[in-house]
Amino acid sequence: MEDMRVTPWEVEGIVDYSKLVEIFGVKLLSDREIELTREALGEDHYMLRRRIFYAHRDYDVFLRLYMDGRRVALYTGRGPSGPVHLGHMLPWIFTKWLQDRMGIELYFEYTDDEKFLYHREYSLDLVRKYAYDNMLDLIALGFDPRKTHILVDIEDIGYLYGLAVRVAKKVTLSTMKALMGFTDSTNIGMVFYPSLQIAMCFLPTELRNEQTHVLIPAAIDQDPYWRVARDIASSLGYPKPAQIHAKFLPGLGPGGKMSSSKPETAIFVTDSLEEARKKLMDAFTGGQPTAKMQRELGGNPDVCPVFKYYEMMFEEDDEKLRERYWACKTGKLLCGECKLELVERVLPFLERHKELREKAKERVEEFLLRNKF
Ligand code: TYM
Repeated sequence: MEDMRVTPWEVEGIVDYSKLVEIFGVKLLSDREIELTREALGEDHYMLRRRIFYAHRDYDVFLRLYMDGRRVALYTGRGPSGPVHLGHMLPWIFTKWLQDRMGIELYFEYTDDEKFLYHREYSLDLVRKYAYDNMLDLIALGFDPRKTHILVDIEDIGYLYGLAVRVAKKVTLSTMKALMGFTDSTNIGMVFYPSLQIAMCFLPTELRNEQTHVLIPAAIDQDPYWRVARDIASSLGYPKPAQIHAKFLPGLGPGGKMSSSKPETAIFVTDSLEEARKKLMDAFTGGQPTAKMQRELGGNPDVCPVFKYYEMMFEEDDEKLRERYWACKTGKLLCGECKLELVERVLPFLERHKELREKAKERVEEFLLRNKF
């Protein structure tokens, strides 16, 4: 088996989520936190029940602070390296649910600097273009503009720089090498960059001039930043940020997360409906080589990305998901049918999303942090 390697920039090998919990030192989400979610927000979410969001740091503490009426906010972000794929939207869908249920602010960072520094061939113009393009995908999901504040690192650096240098002064190169996988040939821009992603955890407190407890919903790959953020928060006079971590929406091939570096197995919001249909119909599955064998032996939904798409994004009804699982396992459902049904869900979602992102073009200004603070 290919060795697992998970850093904020690379996810390689088959991801062992339990092992990541150990390596990163986060906690598994338990029934207790789900119960607490119901108590605090009046309902839970399928992404919690199914452990798609599966690990956390102080999510329970965050919910209690919210219930106690303390100032709380959400923070998440995107590195604009190209078009958004469905995997990126998974944490945003959950974030939107949290914002709706809690009525709280979301601070969203577009890290154009990070992507400029990471990709040798990228220009500043290109990452800026992607940042503004990717904003449309966030806005299209229906976030509340009065409560959603978007920051773009390079243009809005004035908001972050003072905080970032205070962060940077607390963090050694050896910590960064150990946590982020930096080597002697990493450019020094990349070495400084994490200070900005960490500084954002503390920006709500500065802008609101009041201690603000932040929850960060993101996939587990972003965890190394928050470990550092939590270590240094109190010495800088800020509350420790809490996190809730998701698993990765897989790519449509065998194993691995959906990733821009494997475009043939990722569904991008910019894909035409035809392209998306083709990718889905060509997907790897947990099925048998022939329909006859599938009927006799059944399929394996546990290793099937097509099933994962239902589980993680396209089937919210638990009972229907269970039925699909068993229909596959017992050979009643063939892969072709299952893929076609998925196409019938993904294509209308994409079509609608494309319309909404067109409309979002007129609304960008309402979301920019610099227009409000
Ligand atoms: P980026 O652009 O790589 O990813 C954006 C968000 O999507 C998550 N993600 C996924 N989630 C599910 N399935 C996948 N296949 C998948 N691939 C990516 C990421 O975990 C992330 O939540 N450096 C960051 C930008 C950033 C940020 C933040 C992210 C700045 N501040 C705060 C999260 C929280 C980045 O490049 O994300």
